[in-house]
Amino acid sequence: MRIDTAAGSILCDPWVNPAYFASWFPFPDNSLLDWETLGDVDYLYVSHLHRDHFDAEHLKRFISKKATVLLPEYPTSQLEDELRELGFTSFFKTKSDEVHELDGGLKVMIQALISPTDGPIGDSSLWVEHDGVRVLNQNDARPTDLTRFNELGHVHAHMLQFSGAIWYPMVYELPQAAKTAFGKQKRDRQFDRTWRYIDDLKADHVFPIAGPPCFLDDSLWQFNDIFGDEGNIFPDQSVFMSEYAKVGGTNGIVLLPGSVTSLTDKSAETTHPTDVDEFFADKQAHLEEMRERKAPIIAAEKASWRHPEIDVLGEMKKRIEPLLEESIYMAQGVGGPVRFDLTDGFGPDGEVVESIVVDFPGKQVRPYADEKVRYRFKTGRALIEHLMYIDEGDWVNSLFLSCRFSAARIGQYNEFVYAFFKCLSEERLQYAEGWYDEHEKAVEAEDTVLGDWTVQRRCPHLKADLSRFGIVDGNVLTCQLHGWKFDLPSGRCLTSVGHKIRASKD
Ligand code: FES
Repeated sequence: MRIDTAAGSILCDPWVNPAYFASWFPFPDNSLLDWETLGDVDYLYVSHLHRDHFDAEHLKRFISKKATVLLPEYPTSQLEDELRELGFTSFFKTKSDEVHELDGGLKVMIQALISPTDGPIGDSSLWVEHDGVRVLNQNDARPTDLTRFNELGHVHAHMLQFSGAIWYPMVYELPQAAKTAFGKQKRDRQFDRTWRYIDDLKADHVFPIAGPPCFLDDSLWQFNDIFGDEGNIFPDQSVFMSEYAKVGGTNGIVLLPGSVTSLTDKSAETTHPTDVDEFFADKQAHLEEMRERKAPIIAAEKASWRHPEIDVLGEMKKRIEPLLEESIYMAQGVGGPVRFDLTDGFGPDGEVVESIVVDFPGKQVRPYADEKVRYRFKTGRALIEHLMYIDEGDWVNSLFLSCRFSAARIGQYNEFVYAFFKCLSEERLQYAEGWYDEHEKAVEAEDTVLGDWTVQRRCPHLKADLSRFGIVDGNVLTCQLHGWKFDLPSGRCLTSVGHKIRASKD
């Protein structure tokens, strides 16, 4: 999205090239826009380092290096470092939750979220004000509430995510009926969360953005929401509009690549390059056309993944064992061995040629020894070879988001498994361990009353305000921010290990 004002233009998260092992593509396709012109901007805002927001190749080639980068306040310098490497030299370092006035009276505020589960250690939203018109590009960030933005005055346009952007539940080795049921729950939850945010901000106009991606490789094609599957977690903008109408929403505006909205404090006038309803009615045909056109890109990427000369076990040992040694919270949180079955293909299909265990209690990486494991991942050995080859420190922002794997687990979801594999560098591991340490120690003194129950006000997961996000049904509390459930009489979290809640009945 590009925001143009009389005091300058801001380009936000220009994503064009495929991300995550060529799995995700932007839909509708935006690669044919005039990027030379669009990239000639005064400011660049990259919300976070996820590869569907930070498109290095595109930033390098098309975005003016004269642009000043509006930088979120993150605990690590990785975003700035990577942008510098691409040739950007001018940085405006914002303070989270503080309004900054730039030239010409342009005001910006970036709220940075910094828990280990936000993006690749950091996700953010951009608030902009010029000439009395206010815009919030919430993007795919999940603030616990929107209070800080509300304090700054009525917002005229609210851009936010509404679709899924994860591998759950599709990659789990579950019976189809269970997958559909979990997917449906997730799809409903995503919409509930979106309605909650929209209702919180009460902007004049709502723009569904930041997703969903489309999948053009044959092995992932089934993830596109074109088969009438109610458990598909990737509903598109047209589905957003019909669901939004069901809850009374009348102020949604869908943008296609090339659409332009002129926004004032009184109106929003939008022009489109083509009819929006017709475009989405032809979605399957558009996807098929894209699949054909992008096939050479996928083939070229696949050809670069194999590095059979790499000793995967040896390299994993070298990289991961020192981190296991240092990890306290995450290693304890995982609490058991995690197994990687590596196939001779580019995903879970194919012959398993090697099985490796990351043994969290034993602090070792070693060959699988016919033992019971909590988590098992199955993926192509070529993908892990590639991760080793490029020295990737974040397997969430590469392997897991690619959906080119399958997973099985015993028991509940364990967020520490994914948090750990996001932190395969010294800097990130130290940061995440410190964050959990503080989080664990934080005393949650405040309570709130929900129905007959008095519960701690902040969700034990990521501190959502339960007076807004909590819903009690019988003895079960659901926090709508990420959909976690808690059994109130025992306090037990029903969604993930740990995370007990304090609750009592009046
Ligand atoms: S904050 Fe994530 S479920 Fe409550």
